[in-house]
Amino acid sequence: AQKALKDAYQDYFPVGVAVAPRNLSGPEAELIVRQFNSITPENAMKMGPIHPEPDRYAWEAPDAIVAFAQQNGMKVRGHTLCWHNQTPKWFFTDAAGKQVTREVLLERLKQHITDVVSRYKGRIYAWDVVNEAVPDTGTAIYRPSKFYEIIGEDYIEKAFEYAHAADPSAKLFYNDYNTESSAKRAKIFELLKKLKAKNVPVHGVGLQGHWSVYEPSEAELQESISRFASLGLAVQITELDVSIHAKEHGRRELTEADKTVLTPEILAKQAAQYEMLFKIFRKNRGVLTGITFWNVSDKTTWLDNFPVRGRKDYPLLFDEKLQPKAYFNRIVDF
Ligand code: XIL
Repeated sequence: AQKALKDAYQDYFPVGVAVAPRNLSGPEAELIVRQFNSITPENAMKMGPIHPEPDRYAWEAPDAIVAFAQQNGMKVRGHTLCWHNQTPKWFFTDAAGKQVTREVLLERLKQHITDVVSRYKGRIYAWDVVNEAVPDTGTAIYRPSKFYEIIGEDYIEKAFEYAHAADPSAKLFYNDYNTESSAKRAKIFELLKKLKAKNVPVHGVGLQGHWSVYEPSEAELQESISRFASLGLAVQITELDVSIHAKEHGRRELTEADKTVLTPEILAKQAAQYEMLFKIFRKNRGVLTGITFWNVSDKTTWLDNFPVRGRKDYPLLFDEKLQPKAYFNRIVDF
């Protein structure tokens, strides 16, 4: 019988997957339980979904995901406590619609993080505490988000401190994408170095791993892992997928080229890319403490329609019928 991902990599790292509650029944649930031993809520724990109004939390979806993981002996990675996206407007404004002060926003951030982390204390082993705080372009280290504008750069260390106080055993991660771009990598490195120097409880860095059949190169990936590990941080790949389209930032209209389907040529490129990635992952045993795929199969991936509306993608190891792709054995037999 074909090996499952979690068994093939049991001596290396947990292999996880991002899920929504709708994935947790039927054939998808079977696939999840057979292949993976870690779970991340794709959206259910983000600020907006979990805390839609000042005095209301929506625990149902995140609770269901955590319960499913426990029933099936899987680990849970929490995602995410502080991000500029999917955060409700109320967070930054008072009842009159006026922007809140630094003190008020810090208090809200503290309350939010304390409530969410405490609820799952001991059940979530790792948290993406701050997500995507570093901009892609320019020389500034900090993305000009509402958190940065209202609180200042120390919103990041505060978020880590609040999370650590709520669950001292949880492993706390800074998470970002585009971490193989040398310019952005250098800025993230500076940020993490500063946090470490101040003894902020940051334990790891999450490389999202939204890659493509064209990038990153082996050298770029190894450089990211080594550089962040040199700070004494654990490294995880937190949102792995390998798009069949070249990476782009920003939305645009659909073109003829976007109608590319999974041709044998592209499938071969994807196989080679996944093989290279997993070879590097194995090589970094001990440093890499987790790999999580962003979605279960090509049937539904967040890359459908993103960043190009109307475009389909095929970035995962399981196809639209939930079957392992032809090259799957090359990933689990090494
Ligand atoms: C994505 C989800 O997959 C989508 O369903 C949602 O519409 C937008 O967010 N980086 C992250 C993830 O850290 O939270 C994002 O997830 C993908 C990019």
